[in-house]
Amino acid sequence: MKNHSDEDAKQIQSLLGFGEFSARKSYYPELQKRIEDLENLQSLLSGIINSMPSALIALDAQGRVTQWNTEAERLSGLSSSHALGKSIAEAFPLLEAHKDWVQVSMREPAVSKKERIKSGDQESTKYYDVTIYPLVQAHVKGSVIRVDDVSEKVRIEEIMIQSEKMLSIGGLAAGMAHEINNPLAGILHNAQIIAFRLSKELRKNHEIAAQCGVTMDIINDYVNRRSIMDKIRDIQTSGERAADIVSNMLSFSRKTEVEFESQDLHVLLDHTIELASKDYDLKKKYDFRQIRMTRDYAPNLPYLYCVGGQIQQVVLNLLINIAQAMNENKEQEQPPQITIRTAQEPDMIRIEVEDNGPGMTPFVKKRIFEPFFTTKRPGKGTGLGLAVSYFIVTKTHHGTMHVESTPGQGATFIIRLPLAQSE
Ligand SMILES: Nc1ncnc2c1ncn2[C@@H]1O[C@H](COP(=O)(O)OP(=O)(O)OP(=O)(O)O)[C@@H](O)[C@H]1O
Ligand SMILES: [Mg+2]
Repeated sequence: MKNHSDEDAKQIQSLLGFGEFSARKSYYPELQKRIEDLENLQSLLSGIINSMPSALIALDAQGRVTQWNTEAERLSGLSSSHALGKSIAEAFPLLEAHKDWVQVSMREPAVSKKERIKSGDQESTKYYDVTIYPLVQAHVKGSVIRVDDVSEKVRIEEIMIQSEKMLSIGGLAAGMAHEINNPLAGILHNAQIIAFRLSKELRKNHEIAAQCGVTMDIINDYVNRRSIMDKIRDIQTSGERAADIVSNMLSFSRKTEVEFESQDLHVLLDHTIELASKDYDLKKKYDFRQIRMTRDYAPNLPYLYCVGGQIQQVVLNLLINIAQAMNENKEQEQPPQITIRTAQEPDMIRIEVEDNGPGMTPFVKKRIFEPFFTTKRPGKGTGLGLAVSYFIVTKTHHGTMHVESTPGQGATFIIRLPLAQSE
């Protein structure tokens, strides 16, 4: 074998010009084949490296880039030809903030890893896992950096934590609501009694006033001059608002009595649209007649086994939110439009409520189903509308609810409800 290698060496030497032409001629096909083999191996290796879903970057002992695969080009936005020869911090700005760690890790004989390195702003945050390991090769010293884009994984984890958090906050909210209910009822009831006892309409008031040596006219004069009735009305309005919040919070309670029935979803949706267009409070915020309402209903949709009132509440919440969003965005160019779409999927019914309003930023989008999350001014929104809707859809009806939205391009809420409910 050894002899044969020596022979090879001789022949190659001769091929390189030191030997006889005849020798060159006879070994040419052999060399040609080896070069081809080498080229094939090289292209296989770079194929493997470039097809990897991770960014792979090789560095020499001085920390200069010697290898830059396709994913590294994608993540950094820098082509391989521009990256080669640069220092890693220059070529991959993500690692600029971690350059001390990179420097130290490159000299370490062991693998070091940093997870969830954050990049980008609040609106478009990306997360990366970075691993640095020594390059094991006899004559070449250096290191390899692997970068994985784990943004999607982090996003799914966040959604799961978020829904867990929402449900536990939901339970807490329901408990608190029960506790707040009694004192609140006391406040409202007593405010009403005070109003009655200051009224000239009740005979008893006149009797007691006389016993005190005054008349109801005098008392009323005082009450008016000190605006006491206005204050009482303020107590009542604030109390009623608190009561609304409490009743919303109570929807989180699993104990609420609910009745499932087979419902014609389209009839439910029509009722809800009608309700929205008649709602006085809503009209004050936005006139529904100005919104073009398109109903894109699927033909022959089967009956849905659901709690009709609750599904109406969900859709009404969506419509109210749209009306409010459009109201805040009056200078919008296109005429306001809402499309309510239904479709049948295997075992499910899909409801989509799409608007062409202002849409929302990724930050808002991530949080809208959280209880008490609102972008409205204090006192304007409670941030419970979508949290309650989410609870109704996912917990009571075992469905799913999510939103798709791009700022400036409207929002689409997608609800999926199972056709049959298992207990
Ligand atoms: N169609 C939409 N377009 C743009 N933003 C929306 C839309 N729907 C909801 N949002 C955003 O989601 C937030 C949360 O909505 P949610 O209904 O839970 O609470 P709210 O409307 O603020 O308060 P409440 O419903 O208690 O009056 C809103 O404050 C708004 O920023
Ligand atoms: Mg709302």
